[in-house]
Amino acid sequence: MKTILTGIRINSEITLGNFLGALLPMVRLANKYSETHHINIFIPDLHSIISSIDGDLKQNTIRELKYYLAAGLKINSNIHIYRQSYIPAHSELCWILDCYTSMGEALRMTQYKEKSQNNDSSTNVGIFNYPILMAADILLYDANFVPVGEDQFQHLELTRNIAERFNRKYGEIFTIPEKTADQVKFMETLNNTFSNRDKDTPSGLRIRDLQNPEKKMSKSSDSDNSKIMMSDTPAQAAKKIMSATTDSLANINFDFQNQPGISNLLQIEALLSDQPLATVIKKWSNQSRYGDFKKQVASTVSDFLSDFQTKADSISDQTILDLLAEGEAYATQKANQTLLKVQKSIGLR
Ligand code: TYM
Repeated sequence: MKTILTGIRINSEITLGNFLGALLPMVRLANKYSETHHINIFIPDLHSIISSIDGDLKQNTIRELKYYLAAGLKINSNIHIYRQSYIPAHSELCWILDCYTSMGEALRMTQYKEKSQNNDSSTNVGIFNYPILMAADILLYDANFVPVGEDQFQHLELTRNIAERFNRKYGEIFTIPEKTADQVKFMETLNNTFSNRDKDTPSGLRIRDLQNPEKKMSKSSDSDNSKIMMSDTPAQAAKKIMSATTDSLANINFDFQNQPGISNLLQIEALLSDQPLATVIKKWSNQSRYGDFKKQVASTVSDFLSDFQTKADSISDQTILDLLAEGEAYATQKANQTLLKVQKSIGLR
C-alpha cells in the first residue's frame, strides 16, 4: 500500500498559506485515497524548536489537529496521526542520514541560507540540520507522496538524493518518494487549483504575502496585514483582503509575473470557494473594478473562516488525544522496522 505523508510546524497559529498549501490538499488527498493508501499526518514538533514558539507546543498541536478534522478529514484505520518527538526513530535516523549527506548539499538549501543570513546567536545547528530530519520523517514511513507547498520542494529533492545514494551503497533500503513534478501532477488529480499552473513546468502552490505579493505569505512576517491567520476573526480577515496590495493596471488577470497581488486573490477565491481556478478567472477576467472583486474575495474568506472556526471549536481535546494514541502506536512500529533495516545495512546491528 502506498503512503501519503505531510506535516506542518506548530510554532504558532498557522496561516492561510499553510492551510491552502499543505493542510487542505492533504485532507482532500486523504479523503480520496484513504481506502487504498496509508495517510500519515504528523506534527513536526522537533522541527519547531529551531525557532521561538508562540504559546504552548502541546496546545498548538491539539489545535492544529482539530483543523484537519474541521477541514473535513474523514478518519479511518489507514489514517495515522502522530507527533514526531514521540517516535525517537526520527532523531536516530536523522543522525545516520547526516553521515550520508555532504556539507555542500546541505549548505545549498535556500531556507537555511535565508534563515542563517544574520549568522548571529539565533542561527543554531538545528536550522542547518532541519532538511535532513525532514528526510528521516519521510523515509522512515516509505512515503511516496508528500504534499507540501513550493518552498519545501528543495527539501524533497534532497530527500530523494540522500535515499538514492544510500540505496546505491546498501541495496533497496528506502522507498524513493516521487519526483516533485510528479507530486504536483498527482495533486492536480484532485482538481485543477493546487498549483500555479503552467502545463510544461508544473510548480507548487505558494500563497503570497498580502502586502508584498512578490513574497510568500509567512507566519514570521512582521506585518499583521500581510498574513491571514486561521484564528483571525472573519471581520479582521476581510479587512486584510480589502487592504491587499494590487496594481494600477485596472484589469483583472491571472498573471503572477505582472499582477501578483490580483493573481493571489484569484487563487484564494478559487481554493476557498472550491471552484476550478479557470472558472474564477473566466468570471472576473478583464474586469476593471478591483473593489468589487476584493469584496467577493473578502466575503468568501470571512464566510469560510466563520464556518471553519465553529467546526474546530466543537471538537474535544480528548478526540485528538485518542487519535494520537492510536497513530503513535502504528508509527512506532513502522518507524522502528525501517530503522532496524538501516542499522543492519550499515553494520550497527
Ligand atoms: P512549515 O511548517 O513551514 O509549513 C507547512 C506547510 O505549509 C506550506 N506553506 C505554504 N504553502 C503555500 N503558500 C504559502 N504561503 C505557504 N507557507 C507555507 C509549506 O510548504 C509546508 O508544506 N519542513 C516543513 C514541515 C515538515 C515536513 C516534514 C513536511 C517537517 N518534516 C516531512 C512534509 C514532510 C515545514 O517547516 O513546513
